Amino acid sequence: MSNAPLDEMKRRQAEVEAMGGKNRIERQHQLGKLSARERIETLLDPETFEEIGAHVRHRGTLFGMDQALAPADGVVTGYGRIDDRLVYVFAQDFTVLGGSLGEMHAAKIQRVQDLALKAGAPIIGLNDSGGARIQEGVDALNGYGEIFKRNTWASGVIPQITVIMGPSAGGAVYSPALTDLIIMVKHTGQMFITGPQVIKTVTGETVTAEELGGAVAQIRRSGVAHLAAENDSEALAWVRKFLAYVPNNNMEDPPVGEIQDPLDRVELSLRHLVPQDPNKPYDVKIAIEAMLDTGSFFELQKGFADNLVIGLGRLGGRSVGVVANQPRVLAGTIDINASTKLARFVRFCDAFNIAVITLVDTPGYLPGTAQEFGGIIRHGAKVLYAYAEATVPKVTIILRKAYGGAYLAMCSRSLGADLTMAWPTAEIAVMGPDGAANIIFKDQIAHSPDPDAARRKKSLEYRERFANPYIAAQHGYIDAVIDPAETRAHLARALMSLFNKKEDRPRKRHGNIPL
Ligand code: HXC
Repeated sequence: MSNAPLDEMKRRQAEVEAMGGKNRIERQHQLGKLSARERIETLLDPETFEEIGAHVRHRGTLFGMDQALAPADGVVTGYGRIDDRLVYVFAQDFTVLGGSLGEMHAAKIQRVQDLALKAGAPIIGLNDSGGARIQEGVDALNGYGEIFKRNTWASGVIPQITVIMGPSAGGAVYSPALTDLIIMVKHTGQMFITGPQVIKTVTGETVTAEELGGAVAQIRRSGVAHLAAENDSEALAWVRKFLAYVPNNNMEDPPVGEIQDPLDRVELSLRHLVPQDPNKPYDVKIAIEAMLDTGSFFELQKGFADNLVIGLGRLGGRSVGVVANQPRVLAGTIDINASTKLARFVRFCDAFNIAVITLVDTPGYLPGTAQEFGGIIRHGAKVLYAYAEATVPKVTIILRKAYGGAYLAMCSRSLGADLTMAWPTAEIAVMGPDGAANIIFKDQIAHSPDPDAARRKKSLEYRERFANPYIAAQHGYIDAVIDPAETRAHLARALMSLFNKKEDRPRKRHGNIPL
């Protein structure tokens, strides 16, 4: 027996499921891209997707839009589950009007943004769009504005994740930029404010779209994005992985994983990680991996400001954020890019109840006119602000060099570290031995028959006297000097002791972080 209303519903459903049609989906596949629906299926737990607004259509009439069929108005929106946790999702579909964003397309995204915020659940945006739908003019622009506003309201309340899986041009880049994590797919994902043609016209520079806004550019050069994936599937797998470290919202704690390796695991190799020669580098990631639960370290922004390592990990199954100077790159100095990388990550951890572990080995700020003129004062201040503002548990371990302003900046006791430890190799002083000797023994060095030898001797004297953790420990700035091999156990106990920590700040509308 025929059922006309049901048949009509199914016909319409099939139309929406087909989106831009076979040929256009085929073109996506040829470019190595999945369709919007395939992406959502890959992202979510099987058969958990509930679509919202499948029948929404645009209301445009100009420039032939009255004839343009646009299933779902080019964006698939709804909710589903990842590791059985509720998430909201939108996926722009390039097969429908190039995934362009018009009034109703934007309204659908706003709707899931609103629902995600009300439900206290993460939201994931899968971007693949030609930007503002040109035929819809100011209505499209208004749509973006409404999305930016919601991104901002949701910031620090629910995790917001973006995957750039196609073009993202013009002001369209700013919704992603307001989110917590940007993953880009190599070769297909591109972000830029003005494209190659406009740049050619205005500045005369010749650059390809990939050079300008591909994953390499936006991760290594600009630091806009956090992770580069080989393809759509890898990018979506990373979204799932990232979510496993973060809570559903700012009122909850992150999910706790199983404790897979003993908390008191001893790592004898760490006793020899720091070379005896203070000028020799080593890889701080070896220390990070050894302290955390095996295989749990998930580095972010690799390739950008590699003089500082940031990432999420687990200790005893609990999520932690790790910040570490990397002596292998620029000797672990702090520069502008490292400062902004650090500050935003610490603020992210603080917003989402993730404890911060800081590993310190830095000779100081990177000197030079480029840094000074570039505003290292303004950007470096972000580091101080982020640490001092954060109320999550903060544990600092000084591995080797911690000099001057950089000692303070790297979550020192005075900036608000809850517990501070040091390896016996720690050197905590107002400045490095060479610089200090040059200043305090200036006359003796100058009047010596062999000034170079005198400088070396005085530098050594200063090192022996001050370049250790014990003066800071005597003065109470360091709580414990620990055997590097037992770092994991000490860290685990420290974090457990801080698990119920409560700390308040003065009430205010909001602070004024130097930007
Ligand atoms: C309407 C669009 C569109 C757009 C693409 N399409 N972008 N329709 N508005 N912004 C349509 C195309 O007309 C085409 O339709 C289909 O999508 C596929 O596009 P192609 O050009 O065939 O694809 P491709 O060769 O892969 O090129 C992709 C592209 C290019 C690089 C993204 O389409 C492009 O440059 N689009 C315009 C980008 C742009 O300038 N956007 C506005 C940015 S300004 P048919 O029917 O022919 O298949 C902006 C302001 C936001 O976004 C401000 C917020 C504050």
